[in-house]
Amino acid sequence: MTSAAPDERRLTIAIVGLGYWGPNLLRNAWEIPGLRLKWICDLDELALEKQVRRYPGIEVTTEFQTVLDDREVDAVILATPIKTHHQLAKRCLLAGKHVLVEKPLAATVAECDELTALANERDRILMPGHTFLYSPPVVAVKDLIASGELGDLYFGTMSRVNLGIHQRENNVIRDLAPHDFSILLFWFGEPRFVRAIGRETIVPGSLDVGFLDLGYDSGALVHVELSWLAPTKLRRTVLVGSGKMVVYEDTSSEQVRIYDRGVDHVEPHSFGEHQLAYRSGDVITPRIDVNEPLRLELEDFAHSIRHGTQPRSSMHLGTRVVRMIEAAELSLEYNGAPVPVPAGDNGRALPDRRRSSRGMPVVPSSAPLDPAPPLDPLVPLP
Ligand SMILES: NC(=O)c1ccc[n+]([C@@H]2O[C@H](COP(=O)([O-])OP(=O)(O)OC[C@H]3O[C@@H](n4cnc5c(N)ncnc54)[C@H](O)[C@@H]3O)[C@@H](O)[C@H]2O)c1
Repeated sequence: MTSAAPDERRLTIAIVGLGYWGPNLLRNAWEIPGLRLKWICDLDELALEKQVRRYPGIEVTTEFQTVLDDREVDAVILATPIKTHHQLAKRCLLAGKHVLVEKPLAATVAECDELTALANERDRILMPGHTFLYSPPVVAVKDLIASGELGDLYFGTMSRVNLGIHQRENNVIRDLAPHDFSILLFWFGEPRFVRAIGRETIVPGSLDVGFLDLGYDSGALVHVELSWLAPTKLRRTVLVGSGKMVVYEDTSSEQVRIYDRGVDHVEPHSFGEHQLAYRSGDVITPRIDVNEPLRLELEDFAHSIRHGTQPRSSMHLGTRVVRMIEAAELSLEYNGAPVPVPAGDNGRALPDRRRSSRGMPVVPSSAPLDPAPPLDPLVPLP
């Protein structure tokens, strides 16, 4: 009998945290032929009981250490609350396991940096679960940007609102912004500053509405609206470029619509002849794959483990997301002042951005000015 090549071997995995989100990871992982789901683990026995009936033969435990002690386990998937990410992921890496951590990678940049160093040192894959990087409409928009069809981004607006559960331990920025920030990093790279205002509307101490502005070196501006308090669920992004305009709406039957619309400024031939040319061309709805993003995310995790490559949702991108969250939270403390998002500056003086932020003072970021790794290219999925 010949044994399977190392990169074809089934990976034995455990899923920790079977609350709201964990069961979705479990359902997808169960269906991937290259994964063998051995353990599910949760502190709450009831959460485990609910799953056992659906996944016969799976082993259950309330003891995280049991999973770590099992030498057969190659990788652990963590779907536990944010405050546990650093500690649990660190224990996985120290036990020699690869680890996929739900978003955000950890609560602070310092924690992300520690985990990244450990993953490098132990030669393990550490991957944050930024599901939207695997979402076919998000990838379709990325292709549109990369092909140059969108042109230069003038501005964008993003809404992620619904009547959501008010989370006691989280604010709405930590809960929802990782999605928009990961998508924006994937599409356009790092912004130069973030500013944020918000309200604790219902529960004192619990920020449930946040309005964020991002400014880019190119002059592009993006506004992000986040809320757990809205009459309807809205997941809508509008990008206005010099070439085309795009509407990406997750909840619509036509998730991406491309508008050949815009206004061109025609250079005057002589003084006083400024002219505007309006374009109102076709609207195209591209064909979008129907693959489930979570399945693609898990397949990328498995592929990265087998080949020792970084997944599209890399630990570096995960750290940059947390850096943007920290910048937004710092801005909140300063009533919306723009906070630079340091990246690749390596200590050099940041350019004066007051002009693009309409005279508001720029608050120095608390994040260290260390060089950020280059933007991850669009890695084709296996
Ligand atoms: N990618 C997405 O779209 C998406 C969506 C929702 C949530 N999430 C993320 O998933 C994670 C979990 O969120 P949720 O809404 O499912 O939370 P949840 O509170 O519903 O579930 C968390 C579960 O983890 C268990 N748990 C906590 N500490 C544990 C420990 N030490 N060992 C074992 N089990 C432990 C809890 O008992 C609970 O069942 C968060 O990081 C969140 O940001 C991601």
